[in-house]
Amino acid sequence: MHGAFWTILSVILFLLALGVLYLWFIIRHFKREPLVDPKNGLRLMTVLGSGGHTTEMLDLLKNFDGKTYNNRTYVVADTDNHSERKALESEQARSGGDFLIEKIPRAREVGQSKFSSVFTTLRASLHALWIVGRIRPALVVVNGPGTCVPVAFSAALLDMLRLTNTRIVYVESICRVERLSLTAAILYYSGIADDVIVQWPQLKDTYPRVRTLDEMETSAR
Ligand SMILES: *[C@@H]1O[C@H](CO)[C@@H](O)[C@H](O)[C@H]1NC(C)=O
Ligand SMILES: *[C@@H]1O[C@H](CO)[C@@H](O)[C@H](O)[C@H]1NC(C)=O
Repeated sequence: MHGAFWTILSVILFLLALGVLYLWFIIRHFKREPLVDPKNGLRLMTVLGSGGHTTEMLDLLKNFDGKTYNNRTYVVADTDNHSERKALESEQARSGGDFLIEKIPRAREVGQSKFSSVFTTLRASLHALWIVGRIRPALVVVNGPGTCVPVAFSAALLDMLRLTNTRIVYVESICRVERLSLTAAILYYSGIADDVIVQWPQLKDTYPRVRTLDEMETSAR
């Protein structure tokens, strides 16, 4: 009887604490206060994966000044030699700062059963948490490969616990004209992404908080 009482009480307190941390996270990020001090450079993290996403992301990152974003981490799935090679090529063409490629096990291989994918997803998530916790990026930019979900969630979790100050930005693919992708929608509705950037303005009708690339460029000036 007593045991059950204390168990229930601690579960309630735990959920309450989690709720408070989550709300505090949402409020802090909603205010769009500068979360980081760029004086000594910023740590940038991105996730590469699947051909199209990798190309789009590396094109985007060319606009990020290497002296400001002087510590760049590319997270790639450990079976993804293509993205790794592309990241190396892209880094050879830029100057300023330093970079690192971090491997992460894939959450789900094609054709894997649902049951075993629970474990591989868990393993990928712990790995993501470990990488994000070590690097403590100021900015996480992702655009949709499967491995970006555990990385974005890890970054949000560590920020909720106040171990990091991280902004999470999701850049939606140009193919998304009418609706957000599932990953983007999750990050949008949960408030985990500080910004969901879309390429088509009509998406604002359905998702008023998204920003277009043009708006981002204007506000960055
Ligand atoms: C990726 O590279 C490693 C070693 O560099 C190699 O052993 C592996 O076969 C490659 N995988 C693919 C899918 O090309
Ligand atoms: C980036 O910063 C992290 C955390 O301070 C550090 O561990 C890592 O070695 C740095 N990476 C590079 C490429 O300098």
